[in-house]
This record gives sequence, structure tokens and C-alpha cells, in this order.
Amino acid sequence: QAPGDVVDLADFARLAQQRLEPGVWDFIAGAAGDERTLAANRAAFDRLHLVPRVLTGSARPAAETRVLGRTWAAPLGIAPTAYHTLVNPDGEVATAAAAGSAGLPFVVSTFAGRSFEDIAKAASAPLWLQVYCFRDRSTTRRLIERAVQAGFDALVLTVDAPRLGRRQRDIRNGFRLPIGVSAANIAGTDGRSPSDHALDEFDAGLDWSVVGWLRSISPLPILLKGILHPADARRAVDVGVSGLLVSNHGGRQLDGVPATVDVLPAIAAEVAGAVPVLLDGGVRRGIDILISLALGADAVLVGRPVLHGLAVGNQEGVQQVLDILVDEMLDAMLLCGTATVADAGPQLLLERGLSPS
Ligand code: FNR
Repeated sequence: QAPGDVVDLADFARLAQQRLEPGVWDFIAGAAGDERTLAANRAAFDRLHLVPRVLTGSARPAAETRVLGRTWAAPLGIAPTAYHTLVNPDGEVATAAAAGSAGLPFVVSTFAGRSFEDIAKAASAPLWLQVYCFRDRSTTRRLIERAVQAGFDALVLTVDAPRLGRRQRDIRNGFRLPIGVSAANIAGTDGRSPSDHALDEFDAGLDWSVVGWLRSISPLPILLKGILHPADARRAVDVGVSGLLVSNHGGRQLDGVPATVDVLPAIAAEVAGAVPVLLDGGVRRGIDILISLALGADAVLVGRPVLHGLAVGNQEGVQQVLDILVDEMLDAMLLCGTATVADAGPQLLLERGLSPS
């Protein structure tokens, strides 16, 4: 495979699949149940169409945007995924370095395979900590204190996982973490499957008071990851969160929930600009980013493609994945006559945008 053959994210996925153990590939690629939601995330993007505006004079579109007071090179970041060391021994350290070179944020999983301190040393763009809240609050608290110490910028509490979804590929494969791969920032995961660990330790009884608890133990802004209902978006804004991530966990939690891009407009309308609204799930093309912006997102995150880049080409591979997405987005902006991220509005969409504007 010559490097010139790697043109898009699908190429990275194909090469990663060739390179990885089948069980590891399935752990990354798979989702819950029949994987209906996994498919829906992609199908929903495929159904949406951009309608360019012509002769706008915007020859050099600008990708930069600001989120929570920091500049991002593009409205794109890296979603939290567990155990980057499954695909590459450098793991999250390489991912953080790539994110820094691209000027894009990296949301580090509670189940990172490298220590927060090592990841922070390699980083130069914003790092956020994804938080799974354990029944043992002191474990959760220690994680957060370490991330604060290491210079992380925000907490992203995952709210769609009182327990892990039923991932049938992992069940059939009897998937276990290989020797040497573990959650570097928490004790007790060596040799156990992620789901066994999570089942034992996750607090399945979380309620809205957890936001106040997080605020009481850390000065960092709090975002909620896994919001799909406009009423929950409203509630989140009312309790004072700093941002929302519209996510169905890449189809890995409850199978049968809607595609994220399908619920985005109602959530963006409910939030009405009060806090940033981010989206993840199925973003594989620059046009997917532009469509998400047009439907009301402030930025999007990508999960699996980053692991594919890391598996295929280490730090360089992750950088290429991010560069491809940003280049594709800039191309789409130029071809749509959209000069800036702020200009990407509903006028770009056929379903919603044909009234004069
Ligand atoms: C995830 N995701 C995830 N989310 C989270 O909050 N904490 C985590 O530790 C993980 N771990 C994880 C591992 C793997 C292998 C995958 C594929 C996903 C979900 C992730 O943050 C994100 O919501 C989805 O991956 C986004 O969808 P795409 O971009 O993968 O389609």
C-alpha cells in the first residue's frame, strides 16, 4: 500500500482493519445490539444535502473557531475513546501530540492507557477529561484532581453509561484487554474486560446532583456527554453546565436510539446559544462537519477514525486523519460559499434552507 493511496478516512479504516487483531478491531468498530444506531449515525448524514450559495466572493474560508474561551484550528476535536494503547504503544501520548500539531482539542478518556501527566506533557492544544463517575467517589475525585494538576481545561461527564451497552462482538469474541494494556489512571483493570470492570465500578444511580458534586470538587467547566433529548438539554443548561455533547456513544450504549445529527436541531433550538453544543457519531467527511454546523452544532468530535490513524501511522497517522477532515471541510466551505464557521447556518441545507435569506 503506497502512502499516496491513503486519501480519506475510509482508507485509514481499511488499513487499520488489516493491521489489528480481529478482536481489537471488533472492540473498536463494534456497537451495541444489532448496531442499528451505529448505522443510523452514518445513514443520517448521507440523507442530508448541502445547497451551495454561489458568487459569494469568499475565496479563502477560515476554519478557526472559539470554544470555552480557547481557539481551535477548526470546529473539530477528538472524542474520548478508551485504551489508545490497544492500537499503538505510545497511545494517548501520540494522540495528544497530533492534536497539538493540528491545533485541535483532545478529550482524554477515564480509561486512557497512558498517564494524564505523560499525555499533558505531549499536548499543546486543549485537553479535556472525560469522566465516568464511579460508585467510589474518592476514585473519581482523585482522577479529576490529577487532571486538574496536569493542566486539563474541562470535564466531560459521560451520562449515557450507567453501565456499558451490550456489545455482542465483544461477547462473542470473549474480548479481554491484552497483557500490558490497562487504564493507566485507575487501579484494578489488568487482565479484565472493560465491561467487567465497568459493571463493578460505575455508579448506575447518578442523578442531576452529580453536576453540583463535580462543581464542588473542581474549578473546571463541566460538559455533559450523551444528551439526546431536548428536555435534558434544557435541564443541563438550567443546572449550569458549560456545554453539551450530543452523542449516542457511537452506537455503543442503547441500540435503537436516534442518529445524533437527527436530534441535533431540536437540542440546538432548546439551548439557543446559551452554551456550546457539540456533536459526535459518524463524522467521517468534511461535509459532515459542515452539515453539523448548519444544523446548530458549534463543533464536532471524531472517535474511531483517530484510533484508525493511530494504528496505521502513529502520531503522523492521527495528524493525517485530522488534516484530511479539516481540508475536506475547507473545500466544502469554499464550494458552498461559506467564509467562516459562524456563517455555516441553516441556509446551507435543502430541507430547511430554501426560504430566501
Ligand atoms: C468510545 N467512546 C467512549 N466514550 C466515553 O465517554 N468514554 C470512553 O471511554 C469511550 N470509549 C470508547 C472506546 C471506543 C473504542 C469507541 C469506538 C468509542 C465513545 C466516543 O467518545 C464517541 O462518542 C464515539 O466514538 C463517536 O462516534 P464515532 O466518531 O466513533 O462514530
